Amino acid sequence: INIKKAQLYKTVFKPEELSETPYKEVAFVGRSNVGKSSLLNSIVKNYKLAKVSSSPGKTRSVNFYFVNDKFFIVDLPGYGFAKISKTEQERWRSLIEGYLKNRDKLKGVFLLVDSKVGPTDKDRMMKDWLVYYGIPFAVVATKIDKLKKQSEKATVEKRIREGLDLPKQFPIIKFSAKTNEGRVEVLKQIERFLE
Ligand code: GTP
Ligand code: MG
Repeated sequence: INIKKAQLYKTVFKPEELSETPYKEVAFVGRSNVGKSSLLNSIVKNYKLAKVSSSPGKTRSVNFYFVNDKFFIVDLPGYGFAKISKTEQERWRSLIEGYLKNRDKLKGVFLLVDSKVGPTDKDRMMKDWLVYYGIPFAVVATKIDKLKKQSEKATVEKRIREGLDLPKQFPIIKFSAKTNEGRVEVLKQIERFLE
């Protein structure tokens, strides 16, 4: 697909306000600071669309972006951010889960894993969760530009595959919002999800 246009459609802070949208959706999930909002900006080539921050916990709502007047990309808050209160963590969790559950229009999820950090327990939980709910997903290894050595790049895939207990052929897209490596692969996967 060719991204011609993308705009913020709605911002949701409460699970009960997550009403169905009229078009198909794909969503980005992952730890706080993993690069979800940066991936969105890179995909739509608008570096001001979603707010990005070096401190985790930037995205606090479920943000629906309407793309090409045809489908939605949904940017979610991150999980696993320890520096917020238990009640706020609980609120985010119910927001993320409330979104992912019983969502007819959701055609696929990108589970983002930091190339340097590797998969965490929370990522494994998220993966199990997606499998349990039968939501198609793809895995993106983010910030791949941070791995300078070719050997590190080669092992990142294996590390994520094993850490998340994924089958051998399961696609892991190596991505960088800095260099845009992997952007085309993400776009192709969006297309597959929306078919
Ligand atoms: P939350 O909204 O807090 O859940 O975070 P997020 O997953 O949306 O991450 P965000 O896109 O805000 O990026 C977090 C930090 O990582 C920012 O400082 C980004 O500039 C940086 N970052 C994101 N993607 C990349 C990348 O591909 N390479 C490098 N080097 N830095 C990146
Ligand atoms: Mg964000």
